[in-house]
Amino acid sequence: MNAEKTHILRRAARPEPKPDPVRPCFAAVPRGAEEITAAELARLGVQDVTVAKGGVAFAADRADLYRANLWLRTASRVLVKLAQFPCSSPDELYQGVHNIAWHDLITPTMTLAVDCSLRDSALTHSGFVALKTKDAIVDRVREACGSRPNVDTAGPDVRVNVHLLKNVCTISLDSSGDPLDRRGYRLERTEAPLRETLAAAVIALTGWDGATPLADPMCGSGTIPIEAALLASRTPPGLQRSFGFQRWPDFDDGLWNKLLKEAEKGIQRLPVGLVTGYDQDSKALVLAARNAAKAGFEGQVHFFHAALEEFKPEGDAGVVILNPPYGMRLGDEDDLRELYCRIGDIMKQRCRGWTGYVLTGNLELAKYIGLKASRRFVLFNGAIECRLLKYELY
Ligand SMILES: C[S@@+](CC[C@H](N)C(=O)[O-])C[C@H]1O[C@@H](n2cnc3c(N)ncnc32)[C@H](O)[C@@H]1O
Repeated sequence: MNAEKTHILRRAARPEPKPDPVRPCFAAVPRGAEEITAAELARLGVQDVTVAKGGVAFAADRADLYRANLWLRTASRVLVKLAQFPCSSPDELYQGVHNIAWHDLITPTMTLAVDCSLRDSALTHSGFVALKTKDAIVDRVREACGSRPNVDTAGPDVRVNVHLLKNVCTISLDSSGDPLDRRGYRLERTEAPLRETLAAAVIALTGWDGATPLADPMCGSGTIPIEAALLASRTPPGLQRSFGFQRWPDFDDGLWNKLLKEAEKGIQRLPVGLVTGYDQDSKALVLAARNAAKAGFEGQVHFFHAALEEFKPEGDAGVVILNPPYGMRLGDEDDLRELYCRIGDIMKQRCRGWTGYVLTGNLELAKYIGLKASRRFVLFNGAIECRLLKYELY
């Protein structure tokens, strides 16, 4: 065989680069934060952003999907939709799942887990739906490859999401893996930490952009100051963790590293005094400082051991955010009434020129603040309906 012929054969044998289709995605979002996540997605430049209840639909190619996971501050996970079909019986479920070319997505040496949520449907047992889905997936892979993947509910390579609503079944891949609120900086938990995604939603609702100081006088484990620092320094919230899509067969290592490098280049150091946290609990403050250091803000976010009564923010204007205990987990109602009165007094007397925000799940207690809120936002902390109350402190 001459050299030219060998060259042609070699070229013909090289696999075609895989196309990078734009796929329908869904960012699952804590209720109340959907519009904020939609704005985040629009800023990332993704297409077809549509707000839905409990999340935001959008279209994403591979780079968009990686970017969404890396950068979204308020979403809890990003799902990639594979199929949607009517489903009122176990057979319809099995067939609908079996129709998907799972062998392109999962190899027999990989592990999988199936999450299920359902509402208003003929199939009512989420455990059964998850099991039937898993059966259809492993059967399809076995038929194509001769052996089947195993289940690993704790740390699977591929997490499949089944959502059944009014007898319509949506099958998705969970590209995030661990929920996106697990940023990787929280080393230990205090008694009542705010979820990272909720803290980010609160900061987004205040409109704070890092141009003025931000103070949290009841910072606990530091979630609000740390999320503020991530925002102001332009650090992607997902920089320190890994994601589900990194275990997928089509994972593009080169693309991912390029996105990480671009993001790292844009990170800015925070000015002294921009973000501060205070708390009367010294143990919580030790944790806050450790968490902030883990997040990369040692010497940039400052924490002070102080009771609310001693709090006085530095500077003429800024944003003060309080997340006081509200009786569900911490604190006794009588003491809390007293505390909420003091919050009102301190904001009025010591924070003139600032804008105050209080996040609470107890509207009765909020009345004791005694100031007129200029805006009220509804947010959910898990199942607890909360209010973020805004106070203009002239
Ligand atoms: C609901 S927790 C805040 C949780 C925090 N956002 C986090 O993510 O960890 C309320 C915090 O208020 C603090 N606290 C309660 N009364 C206080 C007071 N009078 N002065 C200062 N801090 C107080 C508690 O120590 C607790 O850390």
